[in-house]
Amino acid sequence: MTERVRADSAHITPSAHYTGYVWFRHQLAEPAFATAFGRWVHGCVTPINWGARLGFGLDIEDFLLQRHLLIDAQLRQAIEQRGATQVVEIACGLSPRGRRFRQRYPQLDYLEADLPPMAARKAALLDGQGWLDERHRVRSVDILAEDGPQSLSALFANLDRKRPLVVITEGLVNYFQRPLIEDFWTRLARVLADFPQATYLTELYPDLREHPRYRQIRWGVGLIGRLTRGGYPLHYRSEAEIAEAFRRCGFAAVDVLNPQEHSAELGLAQGRMPSLVRVIEART
Ligand SMILES: C[S@@+](CC[C@H](N)C(=O)[O-])C[C@H]1O[C@@H](n2cnc3c(N)ncnc32)[C@H](O)[C@@H]1O
Repeated sequence: MTERVRADSAHITPSAHYTGYVWFRHQLAEPAFATAFGRWVHGCVTPINWGARLGFGLDIEDFLLQRHLLIDAQLRQAIEQRGATQVVEIACGLSPRGRRFRQRYPQLDYLEADLPPMAARKAALLDGQGWLDERHRVRSVDILAEDGPQSLSALFANLDRKRPLVVITEGLVNYFQRPLIEDFWTRLARVLADFPQATYLTELYPDLREHPRYRQIRWGVGLIGRLTRGGYPLHYRSEAEIAEAFRRCGFAAVDVLNPQEHSAELGLAQGRMPSLVRVIEART
């Protein structure tokens, strides 16, 4: 029997309020990015996180910070060492990255994109603070749309085909079953082939069966799935499997980064347990 997959993913959007609130709490975002709903969800999750940290050495916020700061570091590298001057952050939610990078690199073109309701909310937020201009824009996109106004081709239509580009998705991949997300990566690699140099940065949570807390992790991802009224499948059993999947989707070079190996440069504690998250840098 073929697995049934959801045809839309609007159920994921509320989770952006939680992560947005985490960025704010850790001084990565200005107060405008924190919402009352995000604060409320954070309050509900706090006892669970506290128990997981004390009982099992697992801290959700550590894993969120690991992915966020390592993606930031790889983005800085792409800008400073490979001359990237355009960034597209898909599934941007309430991420403050566009705001922070535009402050640091005023010459950067930064396009944020999300499903229409979140895109409208983000545009209103940034515009209300006077942070939008012709270099920092927000558009709507649906990574599941194969054509039409919400598709990747429509999102990329007005980008400069002569300049290096970075595309980011954060907090998106594990909400989708593997065939759906690999189909998105294949379409993305095809669109990126038009640029002289393109880097895709994302994070994912692999199926680390050898992790000492695997049973608790399975319980945790089941809970995330139920809270977001979808699922939270873990993809790939090893870093080699991840790299192989990205290559099959059309990326020529793939690095799979373990944030724990970069703790010192990211200014993060080492953590009692092996990290659950990997950051992927895939280039065309
Ligand atoms: C967990 S949030 C992550 C937000 C942000 N990247 C962060 O790390 O804080 C997931 C985001 O994915 C967006 N999303 C869900 N389905 C999507 C789709 N089909 N196309 C584009 N974005 C989508 C949601 O609206 C939401 O903003």
